[in-house]
Amino acid sequence: MSTERTLDGKTLLVTGGAGFIGSHFVRLALRRHKGTRIVNLDKLTYAGNLDNLKDLSEEPRHAFVLGDVRDRALVRSLLARVQGVVHFAAETHVDRSIHDAGEFVLTNVHGTYALLDALRASPGVEVFVHVSTDEVYGSRTGRAARETDPLRPSSPYAASKAAGDHLARAYHVTYGLPIVVLRPSNTYGPCQFPEKLVPLALTRALEGRAVPVYGDGLAVRDWLYVEDHCRAVETAFGRGEAGAVYNVGAGVEMTNLELVRRVLDAVEAPRGLIRLVADRPGHDRRYAMDSSLIRALGWEPKTSFAEGLERTARWYAANRGRWREASARPV
Ligand SMILES: NC(=O)c1ccc[n+]([C@@H]2O[C@H](COP(=O)([O-])OP(=O)(O)OC[C@H]3O[C@@H](n4cnc5c(N)ncnc54)[C@H](O)[C@@H]3O)[C@@H](O)[C@H]2O)c1
Repeated sequence: MSTERTLDGKTLLVTGGAGFIGSHFVRLALRRHKGTRIVNLDKLTYAGNLDNLKDLSEEPRHAFVLGDVRDRALVRSLLARVQGVVHFAAETHVDRSIHDAGEFVLTNVHGTYALLDALRASPGVEVFVHVSTDEVYGSRTGRAARETDPLRPSSPYAASKAAGDHLARAYHVTYGLPIVVLRPSNTYGPCQFPEKLVPLALTRALEGRAVPVYGDGLAVRDWLYVEDHCRAVETAFGRGEAGAVYNVGAGVEMTNLELVRRVLDAVEAPRGLIRLVADRPGHDRRYAMDSSLIRALGWEPKTSFAEGLERTARWYAANRGRWREASARPV
């Protein structure tokens, strides 16, 4: 049986809260839960950006800590002060992991280990939500992945996330720790670093530049709006069962080609900007998940793809200086 926990009045450690999804989650948690305090631990890699948290600079319930999730002394001291953890911090871009997997192993495996190990010494933490990904299942043919299906990651990124996912389960089974794992699908929305497909296509289209699409463009992904992703984290925090895994997909399956066409249409850019380019090595053909377990906890996606894309396109059109500056920063 799952028990109801509340974020209200709790202090949470959010890792990676200056990144895309983490910053949306910090804002959502502070807005929806009175008295919730957030300690936001982020290393500010190229993907982290304090501009994502600008509107919270005067917010007394939000404290930013610049640091690395692999710093065991630091994470131990932070976990001693909180009642919940949401672990987003990660290296997240598949192409970068193909080029060099080193940082992916360090942050996604060693960093997750440092946090889980600190959790052993933190009896005040009621729940630890580990944010994994649908990519851990690898390419799907046939039915959508269920939480009990084997993990068959294809990219170094997915393999490093699968390792973190396995560690989370092992720490629950071995030490009885209150860990909930989420496996969300491809997420899009405002403030995403412009290397991922939706913001890459939007920013290229807004500049009238060619938009590269891998291979024949027929790889399929399931698209989840960032607010819906964050509400799934909130649901997992409140009602997730310790030791359980929850898939989170909106059921919006689309080929990359179709996605990019819709992005171009959203900013009235010509479809002729699309360029099919050599495929990514090891490119998974299709991700698809069955999300009935988290739906049974009361979560459902609330933003249609059309609405989410419109909001996202509007944000990128109105914030050109911000994403140009972010893309120009040294990595
Ligand atoms: N974006 C997606 O489509 C998607 C889908 C499913 C799951 N996820 C998962 O959600 C989480 C967040 O993804 P995102 O898209 O917001 O990522 P992101 O790349 O936008 O942000 C990652 C954040 O983590 C921080 N970080 C990186 N290494 C760190 C370290 N060693 N110590 C402390 N902070 C560090 C970065 O500075 C950045 O702020 C990740 O765990 C990712 O695997 C993402």
